[in-house]
Amino acid sequence: MNEDEKMSLPAYNKNILCIGAGYVGGPTMAVIADKCPDYRVTVVDINEERIAAWNSDELPIYEPGLDEVVKRNRGRNLFFSTDIAGGIKSCDIIFVSVNTPTKTYGEGAGMAADLRFWEKTARQILEHAKSHKIVIEKSTLPVRTAQAMARILQSGADGISFEILSNPEFLAEGSAISDLEYPDRVLIGSGSTEKALHARDILVDIYARWVPRERIITLGIWSSELSKLAANAFLAQRISSINAISALCEKTGADVTEVAMAIGLDSRIGPKFLNASIGFGGSCFKKDILNLVYLYRFYGLHECADYWEAVVKINEYQKRRFLLNMLKAMFNTLAEKRICLFGFAFKAFTSDIRESPAITVARGILEERAQVVITDPKALAGARQEFAAEIERGEVTLAKDPYEAAYGCDAIAILTEWPLYRELDYREIYRNMRKPAFIFDGRNILDHSKLREMGFHVYPLGKPPLTDSGKD
Ligand code: NAD
Ligand code: UGA
Repeated sequence: MNEDEKMSLPAYNKNILCIGAGYVGGPTMAVIADKCPDYRVTVVDINEERIAAWNSDELPIYEPGLDEVVKRNRGRNLFFSTDIAGGIKSCDIIFVSVNTPTKTYGEGAGMAADLRFWEKTARQILEHAKSHKIVIEKSTLPVRTAQAMARILQSGADGISFEILSNPEFLAEGSAISDLEYPDRVLIGSGSTEKALHARDILVDIYARWVPRERIITLGIWSSELSKLAANAFLAQRISSINAISALCEKTGADVTEVAMAIGLDSRIGPKFLNASIGFGGSCFKKDILNLVYLYRFYGLHECADYWEAVVKINEYQKRRFLLNMLKAMFNTLAEKRICLFGFAFKAFTSDIRESPAITVARGILEERAQVVITDPKALAGARQEFAAEIERGEVTLAKDPYEAAYGCDAIAILTEWPLYRELDYREIYRNMRKPAFIFDGRNILDHSKLREMGFHVYPLGKPPLTDSGKD
């Protein structure tokens, strides 16, 4: 590029705005502020309560390491605010990290991504922008959303240019801060005009402050958008694959942990993400696969749609299967029994319960007319909201202390893999339970033979149950 061409490129200030202060926006911006002290980073949201929490000592989400990063930078170059219009006016680099849930109405209901929050944001940017902007898709979006964004933004702006980049986020909850600090890769998708490449390079330079350059991948914008959906689909597919194997293990006497170890040693397969479970949860896997399925159907690729939809179907089946196994083991009736759930979050190290398989399991137990006692070190507030009516009617009880929770229960179901559940004194727990006492280990984290020696009837997942001999 010659000097004249460089001169004609838009200039952007060093103010970053993130619209959407959720599980992605908050932690991501805190890390960017931490790594780029010369940028001023503002995170805005329509949710006043959430912003107030980001500005308090009690952050709205629990993530290991998050408190430290936020407190280190807040008020210095990291700000949380509800002034969306002011943010758009003063910041030239705008990340959009609003929620993109599954549509619940109209065409594509139950499948397609609901882009109304997304579109509203685009219109807000258009309304308030007074200078050139780089708009960065941080939310997970259907492929070709950038095109729709560009059409909205270019519809009314005179003299202002908008460059749209795709920069999907790959952090997992519970390890968000380390995922952000040491990402496997950062994707930056852009168009190929000089202006688009200039905008792309500005974002590359931001990440290059802490991410090794070879891990910052620049690519076409459609590939970037689709890579995010594809990555989540592949990850979820591995879980459904091992869960499908777990069902066969239970019928044949094979042990799913041994099978996972054996196949994971093949370097082409690798050992990660092969833990059989009661099913995957979290706000994204299901919605992103359904979004992919919708795209396939839109383009008439029905065989591929069926293939990916099966990943979600196996996940539903796995949750149901876990429940039916409990029912069968406990003499085909749960009525009037007390079942204690160890864990309610969708995974360990988070307070998030969105799409947690524990919700499905708890609802299934309640349908069988049993009482449910829930314990979780971080997710009891979520459980209280989810089961407000059942708590009121005395069908669900919450207890912070796992010993108290299990007291007088007929069974314990391990639903979240919190390490603290490995460390408990199960002898004492057994003493205080009704007999016969059952443990259903939906995460395979406990020492099953030891539990059997204590007297428990033990039902691991994808392994033979330990119930044969001994005491009740
Ligand atoms: P979230 O629901 O926690 O946060 C989204 C926030 O956007 C909410 O606080 C909401 O109030 C706000 N918002 C909605 N419309 C707005 C508007 N017009 N103006 C200002 N604020 C608005 O969602 P999340 O979990 O942070 O996910 C955000 C996106 O990131 C989704 O597309 C998701 O698929 C993707 N993603 C999430 C994760 C994750 O681990 N949660 C990981 C990678 C990608
Ligand atoms: C997942 C992806 O891992 C992230 O890369 C992605 O950015 C994110 O979705 C997103 O787009 O939202 P997350 O859902 O936070 O992250 O957590 P995961 O660690 O992927 O766990 C998802 C679910 O799968 C949990 O319920 C977990 O318990 C379950 N799981 C995971 C298994 O059952 N078995 C495994 O081997 C691994």
